[in-house]
Amino acid sequence: MNNPLALTVGAVTGVVMHHGVFIHGEWHLQAPSILVGHVSVFAVLLLASTRSSWLLIAGYLLSLFASITIYRLFFHPLRHFPGPLGARISKLWHVWQARKCKNFLVLDALHAQYGDFVRTGMSHPPHITRGITNRPGPNELTIFHPDIYIALDGPKSHCIKAEWYDLLHPRQSLVTTRDKAIHAARRRQWNRGFTAKSLAQYEAKILTYIDDLDALISHDAAHQNTTEINPLFYWFGFDTMGDFVFNKSFDMLHRGEWHFVIVLLRRAMSILGPLSPVPWVVQIAFRLCPRVGILPANPTQTPDVAFYLLEDAKTHASQIPWLTGDSILAIVAGSEPTASTLIGIFCELARGPVHADRIYREIRTTGVDVNDPRALARECPHLEAVVAEALRLYPALLTGGYRKTQGEGMWMGGKHGEEGAVFVPPFTTVVAPRFSVMRREDCFIRASEFLPERWSDEPWLVRNRAAYAPFGTGI
Ligand code: HEM
Repeated sequence: MNNPLALTVGAVTGVVMHHGVFIHGEWHLQAPSILVGHVSVFAVLLLASTRSSWLLIAGYLLSLFASITIYRLFFHPLRHFPGPLGARISKLWHVWQARKCKNFLVLDALHAQYGDFVRTGMSHPPHITRGITNRPGPNELTIFHPDIYIALDGPKSHCIKAEWYDLLHPRQSLVTTRDKAIHAARRRQWNRGFTAKSLAQYEAKILTYIDDLDALISHDAAHQNTTEINPLFYWFGFDTMGDFVFNKSFDMLHRGEWHFVIVLLRRAMSILGPLSPVPWVVQIAFRLCPRVGILPANPTQTPDVAFYLLEDAKTHASQIPWLTGDSILAIVAGSEPTASTLIGIFCELARGPVHADRIYREIRTTGVDVNDPRALARECPHLEAVVAEALRLYPALLTGGYRKTQGEGMWMGGKHGEEGAVFVPPFTTVVAPRFSVMRREDCFIRASEFLPERWSDEPWLVRNRAAYAPFGTGI
């Protein structure tokens, strides 16, 4: 093949691959195969070591990326939404900006610069995958509007979970399944392990870990040592979750060191911070990293979550592949948010000891049983308010919880035709950063300050309750 012909064939192939293949549907799950396929074809061509091989590859790559860039800049359905130029061209821009695990600050800065609707992503057109129908359309918008949580997860929402939730693929789990019917069925199994009776059993277990935590801190205090609290709260979170779900603690509080399984798990999960904006890179990274598999252990006399999930798997073989996914989910979902919330609470109590004093007085005055969480919640409004305010300033899910609109799209900020209403097109991935929304000055007076009173005796400090969703909408 002569040189001009090789360049032309490469260029035409690049444009055809973009408009005929890659522009259609979701490709994140196939990303590892696409990477390996491309590297293999390029390697075979380069083995020939001719100038035309190089030109073929160069023509292909240049035209592919030029076609993608032109489409994203000038023809993309989201082109009218404001956003940084780099984000319009490639999500790798976002990865670079969030490289120090500070995605919440990156998005917060975008909010300050561009307003409530910011284009932070590109496109995914017609495709049907596992019953999820996509058609040509835009992909990602980051929305800071206070009504976003009810719009995404409220009873009238048709949104589904976005591509990010395929992170455990091919494993499935309650939190990551994208199909609403499958999720509802799995949730019924989980709910059996969260009855009032089960919760009372869990509470009794938790108290023993709180005693362990207390003993460690008291020991440091007695020896006038500073306690490094962050690992202790993580050990507490993981130990309790191991016990709750698998009836087996990781025993980190006792041993005073990280369990290797948790180290592996957190290492694998750590790539999610910087790589969350690009689910296709997550897929590639997880295939290259050692997998962590934890199966429920230690059968128990008192039925817990693992008991019901194992029972279900015994009678329905199709549920077996869910056990690993759900075990990872249970450990991560239960421990990380608990630890990060505790760190937020204690950080603010250290900054403002007046709140610790007030909680102490509340407990002393009411004589409430500190081992009874329900009584504490009932009798100690300032304690409740401190927890609520810490969850507002330090939400466990700072930016996550990506959703995807469906065929009818979604109106935000009002109904169709109303002033200020914005239409979010069909099949848009929506990011709704809790960190920024829960610090909106128009929703919370003195929003960046820790003011627990807004949840007790000074409710006027909350202007718009809709913006507060540390646990989601509970649906
Ligand atoms: C301060 C503590 C916690 C906070 C702030 C918190 C927050 C959240 C949020 C925001 C979600 C929605 C995630 C999404 O949409 O992707 C979620 C889901 C979930 N959390 Fe928590 N969580 C906490 C503690 C726990 C604990 C202790 C457990 C114990 C098992 C747990 C189990 C779950 C499960 C199973 C889901 C998935 C529910 C479903 O998809 O139906 N969480 N949590």
